Parts: sequence; C-alpha cells; structure tokens
Amino acid sequence: MKSSDFEFLKLEQNQNRVSVLTINRPDKLNALNRSVLHELDQLFQMLRSDPKTGVLIITGAGEKAFVAGADIKELSSLTKQQGESLSASGQAIFDQIESFNKPVIALINGYALGGGAELAMACHIRIATENALIGLPEVSLGLIPGYGGTQRLPNLIGKSKAMEMILTGQPIKAEEALNIGLVNHVASTADAMGYTVNLAEKMLKNGPLALEKAIEAINSVYSTNSYTKEATLFGQLCNTNDFREGTNAFLEKRNADFKGN
Ligand code: COA
Repeated sequence: MKSSDFEFLKLEQNQNRVSVLTINRPDKLNALNRSVLHELDQLFQMLRSDPKTGVLIITGAGEKAFVAGADIKELSSLTKQQGESLSASGQAIFDQIESFNKPVIALINGYALGGGAELAMACHIRIATENALIGLPEVSLGLIPGYGGTQRLPNLIGKSKAMEMILTGQPIKAEEALNIGLVNHVASTADAMGYTVNLAEKMLKNGPLALEKAIEAINSVYSTNSYTKEATLFGQLCNTNDFREGTNAFLEKRNADFKGN
C-alpha cells in the first residue's frame, strides 16, 4: 500500500525527513470514522521503517478542526460488545502512535474534541493554534473517552484538572491548555506550521536511535495504564438509554434529556 492510496489521509514529505500527515475529512470536521482509524493504523505501520520520515507532524484539513472526535453517527448504533471492541482497537492504534519509533507532533489547528483530543494526547508533543479548543465532551453523549483519554489526560495534566475536564465535558482554549501543560506551545495560525517544522528539524539533528530509545524510556513511566478498564466501561455505556439519547440528540441537533438509565 502507498500513502497515495489513502482516502482520508494526506502525506507530504520534505527533503529534511519531516513528514506532515493531514487528516482529510473536512466536511465532517475530520471526525474519526472506522476508515480513518484503519488508514491511520496502516500508515503508522508503513512509516515505522520509512527512511523518508524522521519526525511526523499530524494536523487536520480545513480552517476549523484538527479532529472533532470519533464519528458520532457510527457510534450511535454500537452494542456493548461492539463498543468495547471499537474502544480496544482505537486504543491499539493510538498506542502505536504513542510508541512510534520517531517523534510525533500534533499540530492542533482548531477543534480537538473527544477522539481528536485523544489522538493529540497520543502524540509526543502538542502545538496549538490560537483558535484551538481542546476537550473531552463524551459525557455529553452519555459516554466516556474510549481511546485512552481517561488514562492519558491525568498523566499529562494531573488527576484533579483531568476530572474537571472529563466530568464537565467543557473544552478549554489554547492559552489555558498551555497553562496546564496540555500543549507545549501556542502559535498564530500563520506561524504554527513553521514553528512545528522548526521544532521537528531540531529533533532531527539528534541520533535517531537515541530519539527512539528516549521515547521508549519516557513511555515506560506510564506503563501501568488501565486501558482494558476504559474499554470495558465504554462498552457498558453503549448498552444504556443515556448513550442512545446523547448520540441521537447530537445527530438531531438538540439538547440531550438524560434519565440515568
Ligand atoms: N462525528 C460525526 N460528525 C461530526 C462530528 C463528529 N464527531 N463533529 C462534527 N461533525 C459533522 C456535523 O454533523 C456536521 O455534518 P453535517 O454538515 O452533515 O450536518 C459537520 O461535521 C460540521 O459540523 P457542525 O456541527 O455543523 O459545525 P459547527 O461549527 O456548528 O460545530 C462542533 C462544531 C465541533 C462544536 C460540533 O460539530 C460538535 O460539537 N461536534 C461533536 C464534538 C464531539 O462531541 N466529539 C466527541 C465525539 S466522541
């Protein structure tokens, strides 16, 4: 498979071994449906041994969004088993990103919600544009984050603030994300790609094996994460009326009326 075979991913590679991967589904704010996830899985497998990629930058197509989450239309019909299995496979793909053998930088150019925030958190470093909004709104759909967000967010910003973000479901702006350590740097939309490429080039001056082992060593600090628990709970919620109500309310463009069952 070649990178040009992908329907929803665009890969551009420069001479200096900086590759830019764009999630390209702008009419749905780059929401992660099954095909996008599958393509991400394929591409990361391909790029592991690709000599033209030394650092990978991930961003979203269009002016509005990095990624506005998992595809809510697809989510809405999940059974308990399907929910658990979708969560586990999303976790495995994002784990592949987190344990990638070369640095991965998220360039958050707008909304990074739900699965979009989880994708950004799986990357090694996050740069945000000034208009970025980052959040985990799953509880507003009667769900919890299922692609590693309940584990990675407290690792990145601490339990207390992670509880606040996940339990309110409210997104935060780029500046606050910077203050709490969720992103590394904020830049204007015009400057963000230049800044990110420059950061990538600084990394590329270093030994590639050392970069790989540094990523592996840092990741080992967080090796006790409970991803299985997250997938089980995500699956259980797919069996509830609140989940049907939450996802249907989004699709019908109305507020959800949760009954707690
Ligand atoms: N899944 C599926 N479709 C999505 C989506 C998602 N997560 N996020 C956006 N879209 C679709 C919308 O349904 C809409 O499609 P349509 O034109 O066919 O109706 C299109 O993308 C544009 O989104 P829209 O809601 O019209 O844009 P907006 O600027 O008014 O609002 C958001 C932007 C991000 C605030 C809003 O789209 C939103 O809340 N998205 C869902 C976020 C979310 O809950 N993510 C977590 C999922 S687990």
